[in-house]
Amino acid sequence: MARDPGRVLIFDTTLRDGEQSPGASLNLEEKLAIAQQLARLGVDIIEAGFPFASIGDFNAVQRIAASVGTADGPVICGLARAAAGDIKACAEAVAPAVHRRIHTFIATSDIHLEHKLRKSRAEVLDITREMVAYARSLVEDVEFSCEDAGRSDPEYMHQVIEAAIEAGATTINIPDTVGYATPTEFGELIAGINRCVPNIDRAVISVHGHNDLGLAVANFLEAVKNGARQLECTINGIGERAGNASLEELVMALHVRRSYYNPFLGRPADSTTPLTAVRTEEITKTSRLVSNLTGMAVQPNKAIVGANAFAHESGIHQDGVLKHRLTYEIIDARTVGLADNRISLGKLSGRSAFRARLEELGYNLERDDLNDAFARFKELADRKREISDRDLEAIVSEQVQQQDECRFILKRVQVSCGTGLLPTATVSLETADGAERSEAAIGTGPVDAVCQALNRLAGVPNELVEFSIKSVTEGIDAMGEVTIRLRHDGVLYSGHSADTDIVVAAAHAFVNALNRLVAGGQRVPLHPQKAPLPVAELPRL
Ligand code: KIV
Ligand code: ZN
Repeated sequence: MARDPGRVLIFDTTLRDGEQSPGASLNLEEKLAIAQQLARLGVDIIEAGFPFASIGDFNAVQRIAASVGTADGPVICGLARAAAGDIKACAEAVAPAVHRRIHTFIATSDIHLEHKLRKSRAEVLDITREMVAYARSLVEDVEFSCEDAGRSDPEYMHQVIEAAIEAGATTINIPDTVGYATPTEFGELIAGINRCVPNIDRAVISVHGHNDLGLAVANFLEAVKNGARQLECTINGIGERAGNASLEELVMALHVRRSYYNPFLGRPADSTTPLTAVRTEEITKTSRLVSNLTGMAVQPNKAIVGANAFAHESGIHQDGVLKHRLTYEIIDARTVGLADNRISLGKLSGRSAFRARLEELGYNLERDDLNDAFARFKELADRKREISDRDLEAIVSEQVQQQDECRFILKRVQVSCGTGLLPTATVSLETADGAERSEAAIGTGPVDAVCQALNRLAGVPNELVEFSIKSVTEGIDAMGEVTIRLRHDGVLYSGHSADTDIVVAAAHAFVNALNRLVAGGQRVPLHPQKAPLPVAELPRL
């Protein structure tokens, strides 16, 4: 392939496809914090969002383009349906980035053509030509995706790909949108494109896939063997339904099994040159940041980033590992940046030490946010002797989560509960106009009582669909981290908070979720794949 980059490009879509996970929506500060960390991680391309979805999405992509899209930074990409309005908005949003990309897509499977687009194959072919050419008139770097490629007729898809490259696409993405393919099939799909599309040597082949059958990573690795050189993935594998292919699994598979994959990239098996540009030591930190900010917990047995991924519980394994690490370990935990949960700061630590450690953890707070977070840290240090990185992350992720204009601020919460008592909560909320009001409620337990009292005060209809609590660190003085998801009009809104008092954490998490609901409810963003394609509006070329 003439456009073979000589290694595997990592295209991160945590902020676009990952954010399409129900309840994972992020505010601008959170998106920026993740984008900055993705740049530190060394991904090649960040898909920062779908700018046409809403003003908020547009602003987030533009802000990321301006602050993370530096000359030595990653390519900043935006998603656009194959429609002129989407493409124009996308070009404007990514404009501040030094390296910018428009990613436009249209479905190519008959099932999508018939039931979603209601268009013929010939019409889709025409739209592809026209819209790719329009995108290319606005930026040099254009990616085109055949949505639902995994279920498309290969011969028709080859025609669409050829037309897209002819019109100026520089990357061709092959998504297994519904996670249906098996590794051998997916590898053959990529091999077929390489074999049958006459101008494929002018584009990088990329893959994108969902994990409905748990095969996304395996499919991608097979695709690499057959010529794919860009992998679209997300941190912790978050994304629609069962999620996307997980970045950390792909990167570590290519790292640990480099000698197996090297020959497929034309290298000697023993070449030590990395197959991706990812700084693996940043993986754990990035995973925690994304989990903290999206409120999407990582399962303990998740490969690479799960809490148990490097834990050797059984006596036999521990004995083996102590005698020789390689008996039961294929990855040194330090390779993914998993040092012991460091005791980083204590009661006497000052503001600059606090800020410096936060920056190392991937959080750059503005002055006011830093002051608030520092006050919370001092408060915690009075209650908890040793403050670890995990504690700091819990405090700060909540700070980043706060909306600029919070409708509700929790002022006080008090509960009485125990044997022979009806759990009762009294809470006080400050509203946007500065007024403070209090309410009391009885519940099935203290948390239920708090939520009921808060609901009476807020008066915003919602259904609590998830309440989870986990301990941030070990020890009796550990903070409890609470995640709450509320449903309103079919949309999920999440809030999380951590405190040594779990009832207080629950109250804050509930208020955070309410604030998101009120902010988000004003404008539900467009879903790039489910919203109908706008009727043909031809661009002026
Ligand atoms: O899954 C999918 O097909 C997508 C496309 C928009 C690339 O996310
Ligand atoms: Zn997708």
